[in-house]
Amino acid sequence: MKVVSSRAELAAARSALAGRVAVVMTMGALHDGHVELIKRARAEADSVVVTIFLNPLQFAAGEDLDRYPRRLEQDLPLCEAAGADLVFTPLPAEVYPSAPIVRVSAGPIGDVFEGAARPGHFDGVVTVVLKLMHLTRPHIAYFGQKDAQQLACIRRMVQDLDVPVDVIAVATVRDADGLALSSRNEYLTDAQRASALVLSRALATRDVVAGRALVDAEPGVDLDYLERVDSATFEATPDGDLIVVAARVGTTRLIDNLLLEEAA
Ligand code: PAJ
Repeated sequence: MKVVSSRAELAAARSALAGRVAVVMTMGALHDGHVELIKRARAEADSVVVTIFLNPLQFAAGEDLDRYPRRLEQDLPLCEAAGADLVFTPLPAEVYPSAPIVRVSAGPIGDVFEGAARPGHFDGVVTVVLKLMHLTRPHIAYFGQKDAQQLACIRRMVQDLDVPVDVIAVATVRDADGLALSSRNEYLTDAQRASALVLSRALATRDVVAGRALVDAEPGVDLDYLERVDSATFEATPDGDLIVVAARVGTTRLIDNLLLEEAA
């Protein structure tokens, strides 16, 4: 496995990769969810590129950019064991040599739910995803269903901007007790982590009224939304195929979702 941090090294190493190239984009602090994406890429493509880049553009002032976990020394062996061929670990100045004034807009999908709580977040996401696609030139890209709204924004960006990359969704990886794996789970105390289990339990009711009641009854958990939506547009609709939930547990914002065609 080769590790590079500059554009020039990336371009050289990318040119040496054979066949169908997959990319898995991450912000580091890798867990089994990220590892699953890399393994899927390994199984389905000829060459696998992983990007580890904590993207400042998708964090608003006052969000957790400063305390977001950074541990490249632990991330690299996980990439290697999961089958990565090439890891790109740039610093912000490498990705944004000049302050970006042109951005991709995620449009209306980026304005609701997570986008309403985090204005500009999805513009920052689709902008960096498009840049990383240009830099890594993949045929196929893997993203987690865990971040369902991000996935919808990326799919629509790729469609509307004619980006020649196949986008593949990977099912959410959970701990044995149901908690969706997230780098942000590390912010939780043991008691908060126990409370956070209410999110997956609420989704399991497959019913927004019953689900909301469960979350509202959980001390220390502050529900932002629990809604049934269309997974492609994120319009709220009673016959939507996805239930999304977000809540604050202490100061940590957690999200989860359930695709309704998944196991009943
Ligand atoms: P990050 O939060 O590091 O997640 C990287 C990828 O791992 C995303 O596609 C995310 O959906 C997926 N992922 C995270 N937790 C998962 C889980 N429990 N099961 C399955 N997949 C999971 O998402 C980002 O980074 C950034 O926004 C990024 C796309 C890299 C752009 O900066």
